[in-house]
Amino acid sequence: MPQRISPARSISGSIALPGDKSISHRYAMIASIAQGDSRLQNYSTGADCHSTLDAMRALGVRVEEHGTEVVIRGRGMDSLREPAASLDAGNSGSTIRMLSGILAAQAFATRIGGDESLSRRPMGRIMEPLSQMGACISARDGRFPPLDIRGGRLRPIDYTLPVPSAQVKTCVLFAGLYAEGDTTVREPVRARDHTEIALREFGADLRVQSKTISLMGRPTLTGRDLAIPSDLSSAAFFIVAALLLPGSHLTIRGVGLNPTRSTLLDFLAGMGAAIRITEVESRNGELAGELVVSSSSVRGGTIEKETTAALIDEIPVLAILGAASEDGIVIRDAGELRIKETDRIATVAENLRRMGVQAEEFPDGLAIPGRQRFHAAELDSFGDHRIAMAFAIAALCADGESTIHGAGAASVSFPEFFETLGSLTAASR
Ligand code: S3P
Repeated sequence: MPQRISPARSISGSIALPGDKSISHRYAMIASIAQGDSRLQNYSTGADCHSTLDAMRALGVRVEEHGTEVVIRGRGMDSLREPAASLDAGNSGSTIRMLSGILAAQAFATRIGGDESLSRRPMGRIMEPLSQMGACISARDGRFPPLDIRGGRLRPIDYTLPVPSAQVKTCVLFAGLYAEGDTTVREPVRARDHTEIALREFGADLRVQSKTISLMGRPTLTGRDLAIPSDLSSAAFFIVAALLLPGSHLTIRGVGLNPTRSTLLDFLAGMGAAIRITEVESRNGELAGELVVSSSSVRGGTIEKETTAALIDEIPVLAILGAASEDGIVIRDAGELRIKETDRIATVAENLRRMGVQAEEFPDGLAIPGRQRFHAAELDSFGDHRIAMAFAIAALCADGESTIHGAGAASVSFPEFFETLGSLTAASR
């Protein structure tokens, strides 16, 4: 059903959000191969993280869900069993890329695939290092899902990532858990480090020096009780709405503030955004805190080089902020955006145009002049959760009622998004 969005005057209230998607996937996978029970509080409600839980169940792991608490009864690194059918990663790049590292080391063969969008996403980036480790993997046309993984004994490697990707880093580290000896991953720029933090929490022997991570194979991983912070990438939509709508005052509690993710807040502060961070604490190695956001006039800015990698999931909603900013926004070095759930450079530009907002498209980014107005329009998620949510925020700022087709895609990371948004907005008329 298309979602209609009316303009809002302001956004106010205090919320907590579902658990971080990246952390949820990692905790679920590691808990599944740890010895003993893990209790994961505030597990992501998104469909992607449930694709991971279902895949672990299909591999013989006992997984219980009590609301947003997930209990995983791990039986050790060698307890997974051959699934009865292909594994379905749904829309989730994280599930297929990260889990493949574990599947590559199993004494059985697995096929893993996903939906139409996932089936177009490149897997060569994980196939290459896993093959170097001795895994046998084939893919449709040599690089697309489904993947056929014939697991076996793996060798450790010293691998330099050709693209900054936390999913690929994680895949290699997960495979390295099963290899005898030290596996080393070298990163061109530091991607999110939830895997390193999580592996340590479960007891792995891992050393990090600048952008080099080394992991000793065959550790003893032990089940843990872990609390997952609110997802900062989901919070980004509400933060931008609060900045743009005059008179807004929003509190978001328990948000993940891992420094490899919180570049978003530095970038916004640099633009002049009024965001206060309080109540910061460390939960199982991950920082979390409360954000207090007030509407602000923002200057605009440039996202390029390593900042692009650090903000990659927030770029769609930052494009919206940029169009309404004083000086506009320029996004470069973002070729990776073209191979996300959709080609996000194209889908952002298309929806902006439908709203009468000018945007120049480059092969690796966008330039969006500032001080533009959003006109009510018929928008499309193109099946991409972040596009649905980013344009819901643009629609709140528009001059009339907009419609978002395929808005249900939001459930991939945040099924309660529209409900939460509705509870915070004061209508403009
Ligand atoms: C993620 C890493 C990023 C990000 C994705 C989640 C992760 O992808 O875009 O939403 O949890 O590791 P890449 O690894 O492709 O950069």
